Amino acid sequence: MNNFDYDTCPTDLDSDRLPQHVAVIMDGNGRWAKRQGFPRIAGHRQGARTLKNLVHCCKDWGIPALTAYAFSTENWRRPLEEVDFLLVLFERLLRQELAEMDHEGVRISFIGDLSPLPPSLRREIDRAVLATANNQAVHFSVAVNYGSRAELTHACRQIAEQVRQGTLQPEDINEQVIEQHLYTSGTPDPDLLIRSSGELRLSNYLLWQLAYAEFYFTDVFWPDFDRAVFYKALQHYQMRDRRYGTVKLQQSYAG
Ligand code: IPE
Ligand code: IPE
Ligand code: MG
Repeated sequence: MNNFDYDTCPTDLDSDRLPQHVAVIMDGNGRWAKRQGFPRIAGHRQGARTLKNLVHCCKDWGIPALTAYAFSTENWRRPLEEVDFLLVLFERLLRQELAEMDHEGVRISFIGDLSPLPPSLRREIDRAVLATANNQAVHFSVAVNYGSRAELTHACRQIAEQVRQGTLQPEDINEQVIEQHLYTSGTPDPDLLIRSSGELRLSNYLLWQLAYAEFYFTDVFWPDFDRAVFYKALQHYQMRDRRYGTVKLQQSYAG
């Protein structure tokens, strides 16, 4: 398999059963850098390249949606220099990569509370979202200052406000209403979640949306995550039997 260049979707994958939405927790940038004797920020820089390649890969292989965890509501607790570096990196990437992504047909969107971000970054975000709004090839969503608990709290507040104003009755609150108030509203839930770096946790990512996702964990640090690792994740995904709580009739009668 090493001879494959992975320019197109590997032929042993069933193209009719590819995940329609992949979510990634891009973890291990710091440890990757440390392992090579570099400062942590070098890992973030390399991690950004990895992400760019993965967006291209999704396009090349026909996976229509990718959501990447770039900065959590908890990541503000990191040293100021690292936080500042990340925010500047996001801004620079948007500025440098927007034209190419747009050209490739990537639709860029963001999830999370963007209000505390620096105005210059918010301007780049708005520009990227607006410029790519009608693109169709891949929907690339970036989670920045994102936390699932904050998202659900925000949704609860908005719904409570509607109830207070009398435009919504408590008995009319259902799963669809809650979904409509999430940052991901309108995007189908991820089918596959991938976390790199060997950590086996969700770290406050998409708790509602991942209810029926398949999980794939790899020990590879994010900057080393390449098409070969992604291919392996997809192979594992295609081996899973997604039952959604049901039983297969054949199995239940076979005894
Ligand atoms: C993930 O890599 C990137 C962000 C959270 C922004 P880390 O920075 O968490 O890398 P490790 O986990 O410390 O190795
Ligand atoms: C999760 O990684 C957040 C992102 C990848 C942006 P962390 O490195 O922040 O998660 P923990 O601290 O190991 O749970
Ligand atoms: Mg980490």
